[in-house]
Amino acid sequence: MRKHVLVARRVFDSVTTRLAAHFEVEGNAEDRVFSKVELIAKLQGKAGAFITGSERIDAEVLAACPELRAVCNMAVGYNNIDLAACTARGVLATNTPDVLTETTADFGFALMMATARRMAESEHFLRRGEWTKWSVDMFIGSDIHGATLAILGMGRIGRAIARRGHLGFGMPVIYHNRSRLAPELEAEVGARYVSKDELLKQADHLVIVLPYSAESHHSIGAAELALMKPEATLTNVARGGIVDDAALAEALRERRIAAAGLDVFEGEPRVHPDLLSLPNVVLTPHIASATVKTRLAMADLAADNLIAALTGGVPPTPLNPEVLAAR
Ligand code: DGY
Repeated sequence: MRKHVLVARRVFDSVTTRLAAHFEVEGNAEDRVFSKVELIAKLQGKAGAFITGSERIDAEVLAACPELRAVCNMAVGYNNIDLAACTARGVLATNTPDVLTETTADFGFALMMATARRMAESEHFLRRGEWTKWSVDMFIGSDIHGATLAILGMGRIGRAIARRGHLGFGMPVIYHNRSRLAPELEAEVGARYVSKDELLKQADHLVIVLPYSAESHHSIGAAELALMKPEATLTNVARGGIVDDAALAEALRERRIAAAGLDVFEGEPRVHPDLLSLPNVVLTPHIASATVKTRLAMADLAADNLIAALTGGVPPTPLNPEVLAAR
């Protein structure tokens, strides 16, 4: 008998077609984000779920869906999944690393540049019809080339951003991470390890690429922002909640730092109202990995994982492979 799976959000037709060759697929053509109650109802009788970062798989959901064997996240970040609870219940969890690294790094770099060079603010000014003359100090920002690039979190995406800064823009690169990189990896991206305080003090452009966890919650708050230079910028392409958005809004309002570029927010898709009213912040709706090629690669990898997990194959990117070993 064919297994039943839920594809919790609207995905590419090619991906649904591939899944339908193996499973009875229930999709979500409306692309509505299900409440927990709806998600539990949809998962009844399902052996697998293709989810995104918007669907939360926690202990309560798992307890209510005993037939679930695999949850395949179309995202590299997996703070929406209670991994320990999955493992305890023998549910395989997977994510989509690597395929989005370069695309996300491109976006992180672009957002940092847009922030430093005040692109959103000046574009809005022009569209409002306020541009009446060229001025010496109109929208003057800060340079990228030669400035100190400070990276918090030096995983794959952090290294890809460091490489861009080091090789493309001649930026001195410093980083802080839970564990230090091997010397050859540091040399490859021209990065020097420093303490978190030093990182914040020396940063011209701080880029945050940490995974979200209880440990990284509010890693950047009022105390950390107070260490930064008034000319510095902050860019977050990691996860909402790593930065205390209220404290950031206050620092931006008081010009304790120059500007911020944010692709992720605490409690998104809601955005802290103070951020919305500030001119010196560039805001984008969690789109760092959003190119056609990369989103298709992410969806295909999530589908590969789901197919392998439920047909006795080897899922390419498991998060809790011990579950497979125990099967
Ligand atoms: C990821 O892959 O984690 C991106 O943030 C998209 O959710």
